Amino acid sequence: MSVSSTRILLTICVLSLVLCLCQCQGRVLDPNSRIKAVNLGGWLVTEGWIKPTLFDGIVNKDFLDGTALQFKSVTTGKYLCAEQGGGSIIVANRTSASGWETFRVWRINATALNLRVFGKQFVGVDSNGNGIAAVSITPGNSDTFRIVRDSSDKNRVRIKASNGYYLQAKTEEVVTADSQGSNGWGDDDPSVFVMKTSGRLEGEFQVTNGYGPQAAPQVMREHWNSFIVEEDFKFISENGLNAVRIPVGWWIASDPTPPWPFVGGSLQALDNAFLWAEKYKLKVIIDLHAAPGSQNGWEHSASRDGSQEWGKTDENIHQTVDVIEFLTARYAKRPSLYAVELMNEPLSPGATLESVSKYYKAGYEAVRRHSSTAFVVMSNRLGPMDPRELFPLASAFSRTVIDLHYYNLFEDKFNNLTVQQNIDFIYNNRSSQLNHVTTSNGPLTFVGEWVAEWSVNGASKEDYQRFAKAQLQVWGTATFGWAYWTLRNVNNHWSLEWMIQNGYIKL
Ligand SMILES: *[C@@H]1O[C@H](CO)[C@@H](O)[C@H](O)[C@H]1NC(C)=O
Ligand SMILES: *[C@@H]1O[C@H](CO)[C@@H](O)[C@H](O)[C@H]1NC(C)=O
Ligand SMILES: *[C@@H]1O[C@H](CO)[C@@H](O)[C@H](O)[C@H]1NC(C)=O
Ligand SMILES: *[C@@H]1O[C@H](CO)[C@@H](O)[C@H](O)[C@H]1NC(C)=O
Repeated sequence: MSVSSTRILLTICVLSLVLCLCQCQGRVLDPNSRIKAVNLGGWLVTEGWIKPTLFDGIVNKDFLDGTALQFKSVTTGKYLCAEQGGGSIIVANRTSASGWETFRVWRINATALNLRVFGKQFVGVDSNGNGIAAVSITPGNSDTFRIVRDSSDKNRVRIKASNGYYLQAKTEEVVTADSQGSNGWGDDDPSVFVMKTSGRLEGEFQVTNGYGPQAAPQVMREHWNSFIVEEDFKFISENGLNAVRIPVGWWIASDPTPPWPFVGGSLQALDNAFLWAEKYKLKVIIDLHAAPGSQNGWEHSASRDGSQEWGKTDENIHQTVDVIEFLTARYAKRPSLYAVELMNEPLSPGATLESVSKYYKAGYEAVRRHSSTAFVVMSNRLGPMDPRELFPLASAFSRTVIDLHYYNLFEDKFNNLTVQQNIDFIYNNRSSQLNHVTTSNGPLTFVGEWVAEWSVNGASKEDYQRFAKAQLQVWGTATFGWAYWTLRNVNNHWSLEWMIQNGYIKL
């Protein structure tokens, strides 16, 4: 081979290398700049299990919005049921309780509530009689109830209707609101029911409506000012982390006067987070954790009663885009703004691929109107989906990231795994799942939530250390990075602060 042909070959090699680098720009981040983040969960979007004491001051906190109640008649021995799931009468003839036999609370105040059935209608008293049916689409006066409990057995209740009378199961098929009640709570009284709580929500809707408009602003302000403080950002920066992922709720965009029942002030807290992030050189990922209407029906997306309404109308999608536009415009010039996550954990099939794609495209464009550099994070849907379903969309744009949440929890298949099986699952199953979505020409990958917790009972500190280490190794291959869920939590293993301070995790 002549000198000149070697030169030509060399030039071609260099050129193709440069070409490749250009092509890959924004795709494969320099491994040294990958995100090692912690989530600030339970701060600007309430989650009761993270900080249960936040709910302590609520009067009658057993009846928060979304509480799922079931009532067994002591005389028929059967459950109250919305016949057909709703749109019909209430009967007392079911031997077991599930969807149609479950009534979800809409709280009016500490004593008055509405009961919503499976089909989303509200239980109410017939206007020309005393029959009970679930037909109202929006609750009115005749759909208001009070639950009166037996002081010696709080699970024995009477249900008082708006006409001043109590519900009674006259027969299995006839339930009416015409009992005067009595002083006793005996098994022969058709107005007595055994109440069971089959589900609870403790999110932002529950805490703000639970305290009510008088007390909630003060309670929430105290929470925002104390749960996460500047010292935490110092701790984060001194312990091997370089970023925070901050969950926020859609109502932050209308601070200081968000729609009922939400209260203002979380925007000020987010402003503070940016100041502290700058001071301690941390990157910020803003994460829209709660979208209007709720994208998954869970408490952490501020669902009122477990229903999932996000994405059902164009108006709702536009409203969500406006929230992203507001947040990006506000923080685009801040050096710490690193990424905007358009929406956390949309749940399939309720959140359809069509609505999510439509929103992600518009949300991406909203971010780009204000920032050409912020990464745009798109959370994969949970539930039935193809893990690469967002690729066509995300690959068409620059600096996009797919967020994946990997927990060895929440699925039956993890229930009986041993310590070693859990660890093997990370090294084998999870790493191949992550590999499958980590490609050189697709979006970057982000394990935006994980935790060193599992369903193993009585695991040792060393077990936890090995489990955390395995995850850090595998998540280290995600091209955007990872974020632990969460910084602070009353459940120790879910608190990265506790895990670091107690030597379970070292970064
Ligand atoms: C609660 O709401 C009901 C129904 O609107 C009303 O009658 C009652 O006075 C309210 N109670 C309190 C304490 O505000
Ligand atoms: C309960 O009562 C309703 C109303 O009469 C009836 O249509 C339904 O079939 C009954 N269901 C059961 C399980 O008995
Ligand atoms: C876990 O073990 C329990 C008790 O041995 C068993 O009943 C259950 O079916 C197992 N679950 C799974 C998912 O294997
Ligand atoms: C992990 O992957 C292996 C090999 O594909 C499979 O046999 C096993 O069932 C998977 N484990 C779980 C818990 O899904």
